[in-house]
Amino acid sequence: MAFNEHLNNFIKEFEISSIKAIEIANNFKVAMEDGLIGKASSLKMLPSFIGKPSGDEEGVFYTVDMGGTNVRGAKFQIRNREFKNLDEVKSRLKDPDGKFNFTSKETTGEILFDFFANCVYQIMGEDNKGYLGHTFSFPSSQTGINEAKLIHWTKEIQVSGVEGRNPNTLLHEALKRKGINIEPVAIINDTVGTLLVAEYMYEDADIGVIMGTGHNACYLERKHPLTGKDMIVNMESGNFNVGLPITKYDRAIDEKSVIPGEQMLEKMVSGYYLGEVASLVVEDLYAQGALFKGNEKAINIIRKKGLEAQNVGSFITDIEKTINEYECSMEDAEVLRTIGETLVNRTARLIVSTLIGIMLHIDEGEIKNPHVVAIDGTIYEKMPKVPALMEAALTEFLKEKAELVSLKLVKDGSGLGAAIAAAVAVKSL
Ligand code: BGC
Repeated sequence: MAFNEHLNNFIKEFEISSIKAIEIANNFKVAMEDGLIGKASSLKMLPSFIGKPSGDEEGVFYTVDMGGTNVRGAKFQIRNREFKNLDEVKSRLKDPDGKFNFTSKETTGEILFDFFANCVYQIMGEDNKGYLGHTFSFPSSQTGINEAKLIHWTKEIQVSGVEGRNPNTLLHEALKRKGINIEPVAIINDTVGTLLVAEYMYEDADIGVIMGTGHNACYLERKHPLTGKDMIVNMESGNFNVGLPITKYDRAIDEKSVIPGEQMLEKMVSGYYLGEVASLVVEDLYAQGALFKGNEKAINIIRKKGLEAQNVGSFITDIEKTINEYECSMEDAEVLRTIGETLVNRTARLIVSTLIGIMLHIDEGEIKNPHVVAIDGTIYEKMPKVPALMEAALTEFLKEKAELVSLKLVKDGSGLGAAIAAAVAVKSL
């Protein structure tokens, strides 16, 4: 096979045609509607017990944000729909040099939540009282705004003794162990936090998306079957799996994951896995003689360092850096750039397909209302070309209807959103 043919085959495997996109959108809508009424579905459709904040929320609130890569404790003031960040502290869950790892099996829930309590301790100052909102970005079934149960970890976290338990009870116990009188009153998903903040900013905000280490989306259900009222639903869309064009690379990643068979869409689009997909493609093209021909050094550098999402990003933007870092030719760097662009384009097009499914559900089969989609996360914010690729995909898939849809970067929903949720919860204490 000629050199380019291998590359072309790889590009084809990762393509999402507009026909496929609409098929995914329709499958997604069906999965939402099944999940919402409790039928078997890959979408968990978890109720959040929060809808649209009224906008008159006020006060100072603590927040803890557990995303998977970092944990952040913060203190916010909310007033007149505006926020002030009074203080914050952020810690990595895993030391890059391997000195500590709060995501491993050996870490117990107690150790993890003591670590969170310590973040709160560092910012609480003298007062030692107040209310706290917790953004906990993992699939959790809820029976109230402060009542959650972790269904299972995602993003390859394995901490023991947390699944099946209420993270806010664990947090409260940890705070008490440290003599902290701050009370957790709300627990939300990061997508929910992003949408809450967007609801403060845009009248038509009805979808919240995270494109970061993990992937997920939520939306505002106007008549939730549980309450008949507005409620944000955390779909756990990273677990969507109906009719996805899964490649052999995705399958290989799934097989060696700690949760095989789960989070299929997330494994295809999110930051945690993007570098791994790229590594597998690089290995394959190398084996086929379509990359680093006669340059064993380059493949060994990649094998040694591994690839992460940010490396995929720099394949796209910085050919010179690629040549220097991997000691490869211009031709090889261009192949790496194509790999990066192809993977990122697949992410953008798959996620847009699911967004169309959500809007089809909200508008009952035909997109006719304006929608603001609030998006946060490093893949949307920092990965080259992603917002433009998503806009282009929307126009390609929806034609003139795309004008009804605005994609907006909404930052720090996991901090501010948790403060809003705490403020809402406190009103009904
Ligand atoms: C989790 C979601 C979360 C998403 C983004 C996924 O792995 O299951 O709950 O919203 O990551 O952080």
